[in-house]
Amino acid sequence: MDAVKPVNEQETTRTGAGLAEQLRQRIADRTATVGVIGLGYVGLPLILTFSEAGFPTVGFDVDVQKVESLRRGRMYIQHLDGARLTRAVSGGRFQATEDFARIAGADVVIICVPTPLTPQREPDMSYVTSTVRQVAAHLREGQLIVLESTTYPGTTDELVRGLLEETGLKCGEQFFLAFSPEREDPGNPSFSTGTIPKVVGGVDQLAGDLAQAVYDTVVKRTVRVRNARTAEATKLVENIFRAVNIALANELKMVFDRMGIDVWEVLDAASTKPFGFMRFDPGPGWGGHCIPLDPFYLSWKAREYGVTPKFIELAGEVNVRMPEYVIEKLTLALNDRRKAMRGSRVLVLGIAYKKDIDDPRESPAFEIIEGLLRLGAEVSYHDPHVPKAPRMRSWPDLPAMSSKPLCEELLRGQDAVVIVTDHKAVDYAAVARHAPLVVDTRGVYRERLENVVKA
Ligand SMILES: NC(=O)c1ccc[n+]([C@@H]2O[C@H](COP(=O)([O-])OP(=O)(O)OC[C@H]3O[C@@H](n4cnc5c(N)ncnc54)[C@H](O)[C@@H]3O)[C@@H](O)[C@H]2O)c1
Repeated sequence: MDAVKPVNEQETTRTGAGLAEQLRQRIADRTATVGVIGLGYVGLPLILTFSEAGFPTVGFDVDVQKVESLRRGRMYIQHLDGARLTRAVSGGRFQATEDFARIAGADVVIICVPTPLTPQREPDMSYVTSTVRQVAAHLREGQLIVLESTTYPGTTDELVRGLLEETGLKCGEQFFLAFSPEREDPGNPSFSTGTIPKVVGGVDQLAGDLAQAVYDTVVKRTVRVRNARTAEATKLVENIFRAVNIALANELKMVFDRMGIDVWEVLDAASTKPFGFMRFDPGPGWGGHCIPLDPFYLSWKAREYGVTPKFIELAGEVNVRMPEYVIEKLTLALNDRRKAMRGSRVLVLGIAYKKDIDDPRESPAFEIIEGLLRLGAEVSYHDPHVPKAPRMRSWPDLPAMSSKPLCEELLRGQDAVVIVTDHKAVDYAAVARHAPLVVDTRGVYRERLENVVKA
């Protein structure tokens, strides 16, 4: 299929320029209302940042419970400061609503809804599509629409623009459209929405200018790229880079394990090279809403152009196999102790997808728990950040579980403990002291210990 040509500068009419100038003025004097759709890990910190910069803001979500929490000033994302929300609500510059008719009242509309994969590992654009239809139903002249959800190159130009133009309003003339990917790193205290450089690309020059003007008010640095496709591709490259390097680290772990070499000791040593090396750590698989999903957005779209990116598929194969590898290592370690998996008590330590956060989405912990249950183990878990294991879309049959308090008695009562997530809040020395067998997938223990198996 031929790529749809982005609208270019010449196509932008004087009407467009006039409307853009009005919006630019409202952005400059902070009277433009900023609407954010999807108040999750990305949308909520973003809207708070705009409200703190002095803009009137309206947040939209289909989840009525979230909207209600926000109205009451109750924060539901653990790593965000609740005081920011309280200030935003009491300051009168932030409102949350499930009434999408209020989109008409926003000058800038930013879309931050999920972009998962279907069970066939293809882009699931249903959230973006239904949100854009809602925007289209209330679209008016002079609005800037920005998509932030991670997606394949061409989404903004083809899908979003097409749906919005079904209203009869013309992109670049009556409304403006851009893409700007999010780069949140939840739980990382060194960076926040305002301090992470933000990539911006418009479907035309005016839209790019406007989107840049908006983000310039809240982030230290905006990085302008040629068009929306380039911005979409930039985000995918960042995550593909991580996916491929995590897979390489995981493959090296399995190779070195066979050779009796400790991969973490190798990585500690290799990391002393002051140039040309970037460390990635192996683990029990991959997790989170981005790394296991986003790369497949590119391989899906690339097939339309007759190319198959092999690195992405290979990284997928290696990373997806890791939970099975962990289970194999545990099975062998139990076997060495004359124990079968069936009937063994196994404590999974950490179910969030990475350390020190409360987000369990796509965590390899669930794959491991399901595999252990299938083999007949009695499984429980401890995670200081996830008191209750939520129902997961990909593992609907897992039983309801709650985090067990970590204590000597619990550890001594296990046949094995599997460290899946290395949260700082856990006393790992105590774990090794009391548990009869520990399977360490994160390189928590650098020293060799009798009862610790690295996996
Ligand atoms: N979480 C991250 O660290 C991160 C980082 C970079 C990019 N992203 C990308 O940002 C996007 C959003 O991710 P997230 O982590 O914030 O997801 P999330 O699940 O935390 O939040 C999405 C929100 O959108 C709401 N929602 C779903 N459908 C809706 C609709 N039709 N209308 C209005 N609201 C709707 C949900 O109720 C939820 O509150 C995704 O494309 C993701 O890939 C996420």
